[in-house]
Amino acid sequence: FQPKLLAGRKVVLTAGPTFEAIDPVRGITNSSSGKMGYALARACARAGAEVVLVSGPVALPAPVGVRRVAVQSALEMRDAVFANLSGASIFIGVAAVADYRPLKAAEHKVKKSGDTMQLTLTLNPDILAEVAALPEPPFCVGFAAESRELDTYAQGKRVAKRLPLLVGNLVQDGLGGDDNEVVLYDENGRYPLGRSSKAELAKRIVDHLAALLNGGAQR
Ligand code: PMT
Repeated sequence: FQPKLLAGRKVVLTAGPTFEAIDPVRGITNSSSGKMGYALARACARAGAEVVLVSGPVALPAPVGVRRVAVQSALEMRDAVFANLSGASIFIGVAAVADYRPLKAAEHKVKKSGDTMQLTLTLNPDILAEVAALPEPPFCVGFAAESRELDTYAQGKRVAKRLPLLVGNLVQDGLGGDDNEVVLYDENGRYPLGRSSKAELAKRIVDHLAALLNGGAQR
């Protein structure tokens, strides 16, 4: 009998894009499909964890055995994460959270006027950094989507946010499709997982994080 790798653990994940309202009909978002985060939520549930998936707007069904909390904006995502964090031993940030939001969403539809218009943006909270900075943080896994120099930027983010594990991918590999190519970074080094389906990569990410968490051999 092989015990499940994450049995008895609660996992909170974020997935998908955020949508930052400009007015009642427009907003700023990005092309994250949610597929990577949903695959990871499914893999955690299959590994025996209780899973809460805080999801931005995507066109995917909630994985079986996963509790989904649907949100729109980064501020809502942060509130939902902290409302569900009690008892969690693992937090995984897969969401492509907007770094900035419009300073003030207009109450009514903005009318066309003039040849140019300006939009003032303000910084969003960094949800992963806030969770990782808690006095007793859960085991935090970050993602980094880069368009170049993956090793440098990904390791930089892992160290800056003090994460035990970070999953790096190039946007051209990972965004939107069913496959991805990722590299895992932890304090011992880098582990390229090669190109595969997001479902298969999710299983291997769970194997690696369970090994780190349980203090066992890597992967
Ligand atoms: O959804 P798919 O189409 O399957 O695509 C998957 C993906 C490419 C979106 C995914 O694999 C991925 O890389 N997600 C992270 C994307 C990203 O925007 O990373 P970042 O480098 O901006 O952020 C670094 C980390 O901080 C991430 O874990 C992110 O969730 C987190 N973050 C960032 C900003 C913020 N305000 N709050 C956060 O929690």
